[in-house]
Amino acid sequence: MKMKKGSKKRGSNFESFNPLENKTILLGVSGGIAAYKACDIASLLRRSGASVHAVLTPNAREFITPLSLTTITRNQTHCEQYGPTADWRPEHIDLAKKCDLILIAPATADIIAKLATGICDDLLTTMVLASQAKVMIAPAMNPVMLQHPATQHNLSILENRYRYDIVAPEYGEVACGDVGLGKMAAVESIIAAVAARLLAHQTLSTKRVLVTAGGTREPIDPVRFIGNRSSGKMGIAMADSAYSRGADVTLISTVDVERAYPVIVVETAQEMQEAVEAEFDSCDALVMTAAVADFRPLAVSAQKIKKTESEDIVLELTKNPDIIDLLGRVKRKDQVIIGFAAESEALLSNAASKLKRKNLDMIVGNDISVPDIGFGSDDNAVVILSAEGTRESLPRMPKRAIADHICDLLSERFQVLEKELAH
Ligand code: C5P
Repeated sequence: MKMKKGSKKRGSNFESFNPLENKTILLGVSGGIAAYKACDIASLLRRSGASVHAVLTPNAREFITPLSLTTITRNQTHCEQYGPTADWRPEHIDLAKKCDLILIAPATADIIAKLATGICDDLLTTMVLASQAKVMIAPAMNPVMLQHPATQHNLSILENRYRYDIVAPEYGEVACGDVGLGKMAAVESIIAAVAARLLAHQTLSTKRVLVTAGGTREPIDPVRFIGNRSSGKMGIAMADSAYSRGADVTLISTVDVERAYPVIVVETAQEMQEAVEAEFDSCDALVMTAAVADFRPLAVSAQKIKKTESEDIVLELTKNPDIIDLLGRVKRKDQVIIGFAAESEALLSNAASKLKRKNLDMIVGNDISVPDIGFGSDDNAVVILSAEGTRESLPRMPKRAIADHICDLLSERFQVLEKELAH
C-alpha cells in the first residue's frame, strides 16, 4: 500500500464580498431584444468576483456590441467561430472546458431549439457542446413563441437533461407590446440562480469524504490474479466531484491517479479493508464505489504455478470481507454510507435489498447488461435508491455528471442528518 501526499486545501471565502471569486462564467448572449440586459448581468457577475467571458451569437451582435461586453467583463468577447486565433489552440475551446458555468441570457427560441437537438452552427452552441459544465438558460421571447409546441417540447427536453437549469421567464409586457409569459427573468433573479448553483458546489466544505475506486486484484501467484472490469472512473469522478464541492477527500483506489487530494493505492480487498477501516472513524461519508472482489484464492502460491499434465486445475477460493457491510454495522448516526451495486439482472430488487441489508443511506445501481455503458466507459446510467424510500433514475450521462448529482444528494442528506441530530 502506498500513500501519496496531496496538498491540503485552501480556505473558502464565500463570506467575503466576492462570493463568486474563482468562478469562471461563460455568458452566452443570443439574439433577442433582452440582449441589452446582458450588460447588467455581466457587470453584476463581475462585481461578485466572477471571471466573466462573453460569447455573442451572430444575431446578438445586432442588439449589442462585443465592445460593450469586453469593457464590462474586462475580458475579450468571442463571436467568430472561424475567426483568426493568436494561438494554435483556440482560447474559447479552453474556456468551454474550464468554465464553471455557462449562462445563456437571454436564450431565444432558436438557441433553445439548437441546444435541444445538438445543432452547433455558431460559436456559442459549439462551446456548449465542447463543455461539460452546467448550462443555465434564461428564456426570453414573445409569449406566443414561448407557448409554441416546438418551444415547449424543446424546453422540456432541456428540463429533463441533468445538465440544464432553466430560469423561468416572467409574465409582463414584452418588447413588441404583447403581454404574457415570456419576459426574461429579472437580472437579480438570474444572478441569484447563478450564485445558488455555483455556491451549492461548496456544500461539502465541512465534510470529510472517503471514496473507494477501481476493482481489487486477488493474487493467485506472483503473476496471476483474479480481477474485474472496473476502471475506477466512477470512483475517481466521485472523489473529484466531492473535492470540487470543498470536501476534505481521501481516495482509496486500485488505480493510481495524480490528484490534489490524498490518494491511497491498494491492490487487494484486504488492503482496501485495512485502508478504509483506518480512515472510516474520521470521515463523515464513505462512498464505496470500488468493485471489491467477493472471493480470493485461499492460498497464494509463492512461485508461478506451472502447467501440469492434468487438463484441469482447481483453485480454492475463500470469501473476502464485505467492507461496506462491516462498516454499515458500526456507522455513527452522523455518518453517511453510499454503496454501489452493479447488477446484471433484477437491478431494482437487488439494489433495494443491498441497501437494507448493508444498512446504507443510499445505493447507486447500474445495469451492467446494457452495452456501452458502465465498466470502462465514460458514461453510465443509474438508479439511486435511498433509505428513506426515494428512487431516482439518471439516464445515460458522463460519470462526472452522475457523481455531481450524488454529491448533491449527499449534501442534502447531511442537512437532514444535522437537523435530526440537533433535536
Ligand atoms: O454485494 P455487492 O458486492 O454487489 O455490493 C456492492 C457494494 O458493496 C459496493 O459499494 C462495493 O464497493 C461494496 N463491497 C464491499 N466489500 C466487498 C464487496 C463489495 O464493500 N467485499
